[in-house]
Amino acid sequence: MKKINLAVVGATGMVGRTFLKILEERQLPIENFYVMASSRSAGKTISFNGKDYVVEELTENSFDKPIDIALFSAGGSTSEKFAPIAAAHGCIVIDNSSQWRMDPEVPLVVPEVNPEDLSWHKNIIANPNCSTIQAMVPLKPLDEKYKIKRVVYSTYQAVSGAGLAGWADLENGLKGEEPKKFPHAIANNCLPHIDVFLENGYTKEEMKMIDETKKILHDDNMRVTATTVRVPVFNSHSESINLEFEKPFELDELIETLKNAPGIVLLNDSANNEYPLAASVTGRDEVFIGRVRRDESVDNGINLWVVADNIRKGAATNAVQIAEEIIKKMNA
Ligand code: A2P
Repeated sequence: MKKINLAVVGATGMVGRTFLKILEERQLPIENFYVMASSRSAGKTISFNGKDYVVEELTENSFDKPIDIALFSAGGSTSEKFAPIAAAHGCIVIDNSSQWRMDPEVPLVVPEVNPEDLSWHKNIIANPNCSTIQAMVPLKPLDEKYKIKRVVYSTYQAVSGAGLAGWADLENGLKGEEPKKFPHAIANNCLPHIDVFLENGYTKEEMKMIDETKKILHDDNMRVTATTVRVPVFNSHSESINLEFEKPFELDELIETLKNAPGIVLLNDSANNEYPLAASVTGRDEVFIGRVRRDESVDNGINLWVVADNIRKGAATNAVQIAEEIIKKMNA
């Protein structure tokens, strides 16, 4: 197998550090490895696969050297400026920010769901929003079988999704300190406010879930709504997902469909208090599903409880899985 040159941009951040961990765990075939961040971190060392690497400041010249794949998680404005520079140098960017996700020239990919979209990239591939990724894994097999008409998302999102600063707000807030990242205290609170508010009254996070769902499932007519809430949980996002289908279904068969779909672990034994929990899925790469039950208020509806590690499957693992698919194509 051909070894690749790989860069991690934003290597000192919450997702960036997890990129390194997952690249080590999954043993990607790496020849030359580069870690990049802002000038604030330049010169620090980061250990990877038993070796120390010096953090480079990301500049317009960072991609002058041959780099096959760059995993970006350094915020939207960094991606806006530097992803096109990397792409123009022949480097394939897998970008975790929201900057390129809705660009019609950029595929938005969850490898278990729409790997076919990797075929048309122009050197930038977008990693979906964390809350969208974990929802797509169950929605895809159900949409294929029963055709989804309408989706109602309600999320319970961990502070790690807001990076190191979000994590610090909960940690310090529990000691009585004022928040620095969030607009209100997150300790002992729930904030129905993730990302900025838009003119239609939704938050940007909610619109990301709505728009990204339609793009990934290739269905502009799907009706989707969302309420996204930040909760005082350090890691792993939980979601209540209500689905209405065009076709009728047998509940047993639907549960079997979820059980057999890639990337899913079913924890669906409510009688024995078994359902997915944020605290127990942290550190895992799968999407966990429970509380599967018929929505008795409509003809063909169900409710699901869907939990995943937002930093792993919701960000770093998904991006590394995309990199693995690209490497497979390079070796084909
Ligand atoms: P740095 O640590 O040097 O600020 P998080 O979202 O967890 O806070 O992580 C953000 C990541 O993005 C960090 O690695 C941060 O680097 C990096 N980053 C932020 N701004 C820039 C920039 N202008 N150029 C390169 N990396 C950046």
